[in-house]
Parts: sequence; C-alpha cells; structure tokens
Amino acid sequence: MQHNGIGELQVQIFESRSALRDYLSTRRDGRVALVPTMGFLHAGHMALVAAARARGDTVVASLFVNPTQFGEAADLAAYPRDETRDMAMFRQGGVDAVFMPPVDEMYAPDAETVVEVTELSKVLTGAVRPGHFRGVTTVVAKLFNIVQPDLAFFGEKDFQQLQVIRRMVKDLDFPVEIVGVPTVREADGLAMSSRNVRLGAEDRAAAVVLSRALFAAAERCRDGASAEELQEFITKTIAAEPRADIMGVDLCDAETLEPATGEITRPVVALLAVAFGDVLLIDQHVLNPDAGA
Ligand code: PAF
Repeated sequence: MQHNGIGELQVQIFESRSALRDYLSTRRDGRVALVPTMGFLHAGHMALVAAARARGDTVVASLFVNPTQFGEAADLAAYPRDETRDMAMFRQGGVDAVFMPPVDEMYAPDAETVVEVTELSKVLTGAVRPGHFRGVTTVVAKLFNIVQPDLAFFGEKDFQQLQVIRRMVKDLDFPVEIVGVPTVREADGLAMSSRNVRLGAEDRAAAVVLSRALFAAAERCRDGASAEELQEFITKTIAAEPRADIMGVDLCDAETLEPATGEITRPVVALLAVAFGDVLLIDQHVLNPDAGA
C-alpha cells in the first residue's frame, strides 16, 4: 500500500493488463488477494475488501461491468455506475490496486472462447437468465489469468455464482483459494445490493419480507420442518406481501444445488428471486438443521 506523504492511502489504477501484470510482478513475494466487482460499491463489497485485506498482502480489486453476463442491452445500460465514489471507497478499504479495463481490453472483437460450468449454470438463476453464468465464469477465468491471485473473494449472497466459481476452479485447476464472505444486511435485514437504490420507498419497505421469511424458515428448519414445509412457508410468507412478485423460491442442497426433498439432514440453501416493481432482488440463507444444537 502506498501513502501520499500526508497520511492518506493511495490506490493505483490500471486500465491495461500489461501494466497490472508489471505491477504485480513486484508483489509476488506476498499473497495477492483479488476482489472482483462491477462497481457501485456498498457495504457488501466492503466486507469482501476487508476480508481480502485481512488475508492478503496485496489487495487488487477489479471494477468492470461485464457485458457478457447481461442478457439484455437495457439491463447493461441501466446498471448503476459511480466510479469516483467507488475509488474513494476502495481507497478507504485499503485496496492497493484497482483494475478498471475498458471493454475492448477484456474482450477482443474476434474472441470466441468461453468458460462454462455446464450443469450448475443451468439451474435456478441460470434457467431464467440463460448465458448469465457463462459470462460470469468467462470473465472471472480471465481475471484469474490476468491477476493470478492466491485468494479471491466472493459474496455468499450470490450463492449460485459462488458455487459455480468454486466448481470452475476445481474442474480447471486454477491455483486460487475461493473465499465466500457472508451477506451484509441493512439494519432491517434487507441484503445489501447495488439494486436497492432503484427501489421506491414502498417497495423498499416491503422488501424486508425476504429476510423475515428466511430467518423464520431457519428456525423452523432447526425445529425439524421438512423441505416441502419450508418451501411452502417461505412462499406463503412472501406472497402475503402484495408488492412482492415471486420469480423463484428454491430449496437446494447447499453444496450440490440439487433440489432438497423430505427430511433435512444436511444444510440446505433457500434461494429467493423476487421482483418489487421492476427491480429483481435476490437473497439467500443457509438453513442448517443442526445449528445451535
Ligand atoms: O458478482 C459480481 O459483481 C460479478 O458477477 C463478478 C463476479 C464481478 C463478475 O463480473
């Protein structure tokens, strides 16, 4: 980390792969930690940065709104951006270097290679956003090759993304440790997300139903409820909120993401995709039958 002489931390910004590689070639004596982001940072990202700072000697964050993971051009265009604020937050979090490539630095016009985790990418979010996880794994694989980190940090909030990336790393032998960081929530329980700023006041208030349903389901799971009972309970709790438009309530094995059925004997994850107006929110919570036992 560098200082500007008046006590303020400095962050180095790189737009080209070669300049970043040159910089990193001088930092390989310690552990390089990568935090991939698409910017518009919130406390959830800062938890990733803090976890990376705690374990890495050099912390690199990427800020790249990856076009290949957006299905519709409108979604990509609507993605919120505030690079000045992002840089200030990276600096405060103690990030050493930010990789902020233009699109043509990441994707050559004639690029034709993709990375796809075929099965895990098809289910759940992958079923409603075809191609989304292929875009994620392709860009994350590229970032791993460019940065060659020892550690990489991802939020548990995007649970399927985390599992897809873990599988890619295992299957393709990337020499990187993937670290999952727990979801950061607002005081009322709403999971932090860049999308929350797009919620109107009434939808923002209504969206608290997601965490309320998840936390209550966790208690029922500890009390021995079956997968079917939990799924029904979560669906009914959310459906009772008139502003919530349920796109998906899934209960899956927390490791394999296969649908959970019957008695719950190992951790399952409840995955929610619920729209409030035109804002699709996701949330997740691992339900553990043995927690606190
Ligand atoms: O989670 C995200 O912000 C993105 O999917 C990621 C991992 C930075 C890849 O573009």
